[in-house]
Amino acid sequence: MEKSFAFSPRGAPPPRSARHRIQWGLLFCAFLVAYCVRFGWFFDTHSSAVQLDKDAIVGQCAHLSVKPGPPETFSQRVVSDRYQEGTRPIFIRNATIWTGRVQGFEVLQGDLLLAHGLIKAVGDIGEGMLSTLSDVETVDVHGAWVTPGVVDLHSHLAVESSPSLRGSSDGNSFNGLVLPWLRSLDALNTHDDGFKHTMAGGVTTSLILPGSADAIGGQAFVIKLRPTTERTPTSMLLEPPFYLNGSAVDTSVPPRWRHMKHACGENPARVYSGTRMDTVWGYRQAYNKAREIRDAQDQYCAKALAGDWKALEGQAFPEDLQWESLVDVLRGRVQTHCYEAVDFDDFVRLSNEFRFSVAAFHHAHEAYLVPDVLKRAYGNTPAIAMFATFSRYKREAFRHSEYAPRILAENDIPVIMKSDHPGILSRFLVNEAAQAHYYGLDENIALASVISTPATLLGLDHRIGFLKTDVVIWDSHPLALGATPSQVIVDGIPQFDETRAFAKLVAQQHAPQTPDFSEEAQKTLKYDGLPPLEPTESTDGIVIFTNITNVWAKSMDGTGIVSLLEPGEGSGIREPIVVVKGGKVVCSGASAACSQYTVHPEAVMVNLHGGALQPGLVSFGSTIGLQEISMEESTVDGVALDPLLAEVPAITGGAGYLTRAVDGLQYGTRDAMLAYRHGVTVGIAAPNHAAFLGGLSVAFSLGARHKLEKGAVVQDVAAVHVTIGRSMGLPSVSTQIATLRRYLLHPSGESGKWLEKVADGTVPLVVEVNSADIIATLIGLKKEVEAKIGSIIKLTIVGGAEAHLLAKELARANIGVILTPPRSYPYDWDRKRILGGPPLTEEGAVAYLIRHGVKVGLGPQGVNAAPDMSTWAVRNLRFDAGWALHSAQDVLDKASAYALASTNIEELLGIDIPAGTEDLVATAGGDLLGFEGKVVAVISSRRGKVDLF
Ligand SMILES: *[C@@H]1O[C@H](CO)[C@@H](O)[C@H](O)[C@H]1NC(C)=O
Ligand SMILES: *[C@@H]1O[C@H](CO)[C@@H](O)[C@H](O)[C@H]1NC(C)=O
Ligand SMILES: *[C@@H]1O[C@H](CO)[C@@H](O)[C@H](O)[C@H]1NC(C)=O
Repeated sequence: MEKSFAFSPRGAPPPRSARHRIQWGLLFCAFLVAYCVRFGWFFDTHSSAVQLDKDAIVGQCAHLSVKPGPPETFSQRVVSDRYQEGTRPIFIRNATIWTGRVQGFEVLQGDLLLAHGLIKAVGDIGEGMLSTLSDVETVDVHGAWVTPGVVDLHSHLAVESSPSLRGSSDGNSFNGLVLPWLRSLDALNTHDDGFKHTMAGGVTTSLILPGSADAIGGQAFVIKLRPTTERTPTSMLLEPPFYLNGSAVDTSVPPRWRHMKHACGENPARVYSGTRMDTVWGYRQAYNKAREIRDAQDQYCAKALAGDWKALEGQAFPEDLQWESLVDVLRGRVQTHCYEAVDFDDFVRLSNEFRFSVAAFHHAHEAYLVPDVLKRAYGNTPAIAMFATFSRYKREAFRHSEYAPRILAENDIPVIMKSDHPGILSRFLVNEAAQAHYYGLDENIALASVISTPATLLGLDHRIGFLKTDVVIWDSHPLALGATPSQVIVDGIPQFDETRAFAKLVAQQHAPQTPDFSEEAQKTLKYDGLPPLEPTESTDGIVIFTNITNVWAKSMDGTGIVSLLEPGEGSGIREPIVVVKGGKVVCSGASAACSQYTVHPEAVMVNLHGGALQPGLVSFGSTIGLQEISMEESTVDGVALDPLLAEVPAITGGAGYLTRAVDGLQYGTRDAMLAYRHGVTVGIAAPNHAAFLGGLSVAFSLGARHKLEKGAVVQDVAAVHVTIGRSMGLPSVSTQIATLRRYLLHPSGESGKWLEKVADGTVPLVVEVNSADIIATLIGLKKEVEAKIGSIIKLTIVGGAEAHLLAKELARANIGVILTPPRSYPYDWDRKRILGGPPLTEEGAVAYLIRHGVKVGLGPQGVNAAPDMSTWAVRNLRFDAGWALHSAQDVLDKASAYALASTNIEELLGIDIPAGTEDLVATAGGDLLGFEGKVVAVISSRRGKVDLF
């Protein structure tokens, strides 16, 4: 019964074009909404008007006012209705158990017993109880954290399938603004690769929503993610409405909750070429229709319940198959996604006009700015389901705040962290909660936000969200950076091979001690969501850093990172300090040795509270610096021309055309400033491109205000970029390869000038590619061209989802890989053969490639690895590096983890920052690689100053 999802490579390769990524992103970010409707009544579609079955009508009418929920006897069940015959009982010994109870505060030390698809006992479980069961499997987890299964309130898993294929793209219907009769269930692809990846993050249950193209996109359904013996979508449903197959309603039990998706704001307006006004009228028209039907039903029932059958003669119960779900909304509650203030106000007005309650606003980027509007919603205050840091991709998300979860919680508004799978991957849903915790959401609320709160909101807390059926055994505290399940048990059935678990540090076994961000949160409200992000002070004077645990900097040869205060030395020098003047470290070591500075009256003292100095991180893999709001054309640099998509005008250079990112730079964007404030000091961007030809990348300072400032441009030309992959609408892969070959062997024009430098090895050729087949072809092409021209080409792979299949060959050819994203996902066919990492595979791509001698860098974990949809994620590079460190402890230490996000990237992209001239980042309370440290200063010798935050 142990189910192993060991990855079995099969299938093929290819990468997608930037153009399709953009379209996909647009579609995607739109998404979802849902609302839960209580249901009950009518849908007795087969009853004809002529002969009235009085008993049935009275039953049906009486049932209209019954609240949804489990039957009273539910809690006494001894066998789950989802129990799979032959499942062995499991006894989990010695766990640290977060139960979800007592507002998420309750933690027990003890055991768990699972049998018949249920958690039978929790705590101190005696031999007596065990002896009543046979064939029990015992697992000693040695004090590991155990939680109920994670619940994702917002997923398009299996309706927007992975890998993405035309044949299974069923998330959005474009057939109308209002389509409440559609059901996500009807499109559920049971072969989606995402099921196992999502469960690998501990998620056991998801609400599957239609996309957000429409104002009302259709009904959403709750599924359990484990495979069933029946292999059907229906068998995955968790407590579906009773009538789905047209069977008569059983009026002896309460109805079950339903869910309906609404989308406000930009998406429906864009898709239907309308405005917010059109969307809201669409709602009102639809709800008016539903209200008419409901009122007719109520009048009918009033007569039926009064026994006035004469008045009802020949009349059937009023109903309409197209509108029955909205009538249920009026009798129940709604979940909807909206982004900004105007949309909340609209929807709350609508909920009061038609008197239906809203379960949750999803996405809801601006909800934290309008708590009072939320509280005015009809019936109850909606929960807010949101992301930790995904933002600014569209105008509605521009004022997103990482402090929103804590601000909403402080306003007593239920907080739910969510994915937007496959946009924001549900596998890392718990990391959304961990980040919310980092920015100030309390531990108990953060854990509940992905487990108990969504379960309760769905009306399913009798089955999920608490210790009822599913458990996750974690390798560390779930809010620790990179927490990963070592086992996930759904309906009593283990989903992974437990040997995949790996040991983590003791320090990872409790919730991180996070910094205090109260002031930042307050400032965010004060500035209506757009607090100033500039440093509070920039100085070329003396700054003295004290109470330092470690200093990390470039090694003398500039190729790696070393610790300057090895523990021995650190303990030798009591209370070491670092003195900076004019942005340069002028003294470090014992306080006494630097006394000429410490006595300086104007010296600024910065107590790091046991924090560290470390190299500024360097990011590549997004179009940071070339855009502000991805989906607003007037805020972005735009898309470069591509000779493989259309003829390039002669005036731009024709066949020899090549563009430079440095010419399109925008400084001071919020993503850049936020990245800077989180320790990423240098951004590298290639021009945003639609297909094959990328152009020349630039390295620039994320802290500068404009291009002409000192040190604002780190290197105006870094590398030559191309993208190669299989994609609709592009010439074949072999055409793309042929074009690259020709570029290299017969350089001409502006591009020729740079390709000559590629050919002689002075400028790197960076190829964005994911498919192992195409990477193999590139390794061959490199050899072929080198043999012809007699020099060595410096080739770097970006993307690299399938690079692990060629790890040895890449190492031998001295080709490095910038993994973008660092934690891969089978988004498309080019990325089908990824290395999933624990608990799916022994190790992930980072560890595997490093072990095989490949130089690795980390790109952002953005949306679908689309550069223009990933600028928001640059700020998280420090956590991506920390995550890599925790998941690859036998091949990485802190120094090499920093290198993944700094010197390795520089080397792979040909950026020259000599040792001693790199930026240093000061963190208080901890370092950049964990949830304890907070960035308080950036020391920049290139810019000759220290920025203090
Ligand atoms: C539970 O595991 C912890 C950590 O290994 C250990 O210290 C403790 O003694 C164990 N307790 C029991 C009751 O086995
Ligand atoms: C229809 O669904 C109900 C549960 O909602 C189930 O009990 C019944 O067996 C189903 N009928 C058929 C014909 O599948
Ligand atoms: C150094 O930092 C630690 C951790 O915050 C703190 O306990 C200690 O008091 C600090 N020492 C000084 C001298 O500030």
